[in-house]
Amino acid sequence: MTTPETLVAFAKQARSRSYCPYSGFAVGAALLCADGIVYQGCNIENAAYGPSICAERVAVFRAVAEGKRDFAALAVAGGKAGEEITALCPPCGVCRQVLREFCGADFPIYLAGPDGTYECHSLGELLPLSFSNAELS
Ligand code: THU
Repeated sequence: MTTPETLVAFAKQARSRSYCPYSGFAVGAALLCADGIVYQGCNIENAAYGPSICAERVAVFRAVAEGKRDFAALAVAGGKAGEEITALCPPCGVCRQVLREFCGADFPIYLAGPDGTYECHSLGELLPLSFSNAELS
């Protein structure tokens, strides 16, 4: 069983692979699938800036590309590259919307904080009154 602590550790490991020469802000994410498999992602920046992508979306897209759509939890760890985490790194709005495509309001998101701490917030908290595929039916 993957505990929140383990998932946060996977997010921190993914963070070490961040490619962020422009912002200097390194983010890692770890997405736990219902089958127990964990997909990691890191932010990957680009000289043209626009093609850059967040860690969370890399993790989601990797999982979906492998045929997974049933997700149990996400962990995110972010902060200045090469430094310890000093604050929570909540997912950006675009990543929240991407998560909403596959996850409901109760979906737990573990945000790494300083000194090994973490906070848990649901997707419903982070993206209230969301637009989803339910609105299209
Ligand atoms: N970033 C993420 O990867 N995830 C977030 O939730 C927030 C921001 C990245 C994008 C960019 O490469 C850098 O952090 C600074 O915004």
